[in-house]
Amino acid sequence: MTDAPGRLPSSLTLVGAGKMGGSMLAGWLAGGLDPRRTTLIDPAPAPEIVALCEARGLGLNPAAPPASEVVVLAIKPQGLAAAAPALDALLGPDALLVSILAGKTIADLRTRLPSARAVVRAMPNLPASIGRGATGAAANAEVSADQRDRADALLAATGLVEWLADEALIDAVTAVSGSGPAYVFLLAEALAEAGVAAGLPPETAARLARATVAGSGALLDGSPVAADALRRNVTSPGGTTAAGLAVLMRADGMAALLREAVAAAKRRAGELAG
Ligand SMILES: NC(=O)c1ccc[n+]([C@@H]2O[C@H](COP(=O)([O-])OP(=O)(O)OC[C@H]3O[C@@H](n4cnc5c(N)ncnc54)[C@H](OP(=O)(O)O)[C@@H]3O)[C@@H](O)[C@H]2O)c1
Repeated sequence: MTDAPGRLPSSLTLVGAGKMGGSMLAGWLAGGLDPRRTTLIDPAPAPEIVALCEARGLGLNPAAPPASEVVVLAIKPQGLAAAAPALDALLGPDALLVSILAGKTIADLRTRLPSARAVVRAMPNLPASIGRGATGAAANAEVSADQRDRADALLAATGLVEWLADEALIDAVTAVSGSGPAYVFLLAEALAEAGVAAGLPPETAARLARATVAGSGALLDGSPVAADALRRNVTSPGGTTAAGLAVLMRADGMAALLREAVAAAKRRAGELAG
């Protein structure tokens, strides 16, 4: 069997072609996944997914789904119990299961899906939908080096992938990068509000704050320099930025607040798991 380009699997079944599943699929097909060896299972696929399957020859809800090297699970976590019997039937003895279900541990998945052996649990985030995501991933002991490579290629289609030594760290990943986009959106909101308080018209403040957050993110992304060095580079001693940062960097400032926020989100991820 020859490998698809970029270490992508030679055959794949995607269960759940919604927002995240559909975005990942677009990345995989662009990366060279063979559409004729790709099967989608989704009870009510969006019209664009149906059109994609027709145009590129992907299998859509076949009566007898073929055995695939990798099965990616991208349904809502609360749908797992109902979907489990049909899902379990998709898993051959050598299949790799890749799950992006929030809060479902590898042990939960193996309990629900008795045929699952090699399992990768991943936590992507919202920008994965535009190929700019950050994903934390953990594999169980049954995942071979080759299967991990396949999972890495699949997850990398949506952006950065960080492999975790311990699945328990997924809750921390959820709190940092999973919930992180909302923290950044809040920064844009709060900066706009502060601009209004400083006298700017609301619309002007909102546009300036939004462009500042987006532009700074792009700058950070395109730079090999670490965030703290970039910050220092734009901070002249005694200048305006230094005056603002002196407030944000005090002991009870932004770092302390984010530590507290991440701890709270991590705690909540633990409570919601299962
Ligand atoms: N979106 C994010 O930013 C994000 C981030 C991290 C993790 N996740 C995880 O990604 C997973 C998917 O999230 P999403 O936002 O992509 O949800 P979504 O848009 O609702 O996608 C789920 C898809 O699965 C389909 N589905 C439901 N039951 C199914 C079944 N039994 N067999 C096959 N397909 C089924 C749904 O169809 P219907 O619409 O007809 O029910 C829908 O098309 C979740 O587990 C979530 O925890 C998402």
